[in-house]
Amino acid sequence: MKPVISPSLLSADFGHLADDVEMVNRSEAEWLHIDIMDGVFVPNISFGFPVLKPVAKLSRKLLDVHLMIVQPEKFIPEVKALGAHVMNVHYEACPHLHRVMQQIREAGMNPAVTLNPATPVSLLKDIVNDVYMVLLMGVNPGFGGQKFIEHTTAKVRELRELMDACGSQALIEVDGGVNLDTGARLVEAGADVLVAGSAVFSAPSPEEAIRALHNL
Ligand code: DX5
Ligand code: ZN
Repeated sequence: MKPVISPSLLSADFGHLADDVEMVNRSEAEWLHIDIMDGVFVPNISFGFPVLKPVAKLSRKLLDVHLMIVQPEKFIPEVKALGAHVMNVHYEACPHLHRVMQQIREAGMNPAVTLNPATPVSLLKDIVNDVYMVLLMGVNPGFGGQKFIEHTTAKVRELRELMDACGSQALIEVDGGVNLDTGARLVEAGADVLVAGSAVFSAPSPEEAIRALHNL
């Protein structure tokens, strides 16, 4: 099965965002990945809702919104207003994760839980049947263009086993350090969705880079 590709807007040219959204629209990517940061949960700030509103309007792809913020549940209405398909929140940012998953579903979106590299997959046992997707970080969140943490591939395999044992139908997404090389190994290990920022937007032909990832 071909992986779903979710190009990360974080690596786009912020001076010409519309052009890059149109490039993704023309490409084979199914999703558009949007990283929201607060400078608290992660040591960086990306873009907020006033910038994302016109981006969401222009995008013809399903929006995959990744919140790297504390108390992400506060922004469920804003993420919903963008028309998001998936709302990803961090396990490490949600003491009441089950409630947040329910709130996202009640708002009409698909809930996803994201794990930092140091958070073990085994902690998901009691939530894996209540999520649409699990997002495993392949780098420490906050910045594009970082080196892939190799242990992530083993985590994908372990998560696939845990989900099979629990009868979970959730998707597995990986974000950070994904390129053709790491992507091939992640798909082989059981990843369904690949996020790619620099591997797409730094390529000579971003559309071609998306096609190559899609064909993994
Ligand atoms: C990092 C973000 C990623 C980032 C990935 O915190 O969550 O989505 O854009 O960038 P690459 O693909 O360059 O590692
Ligand atoms: Zn992301």
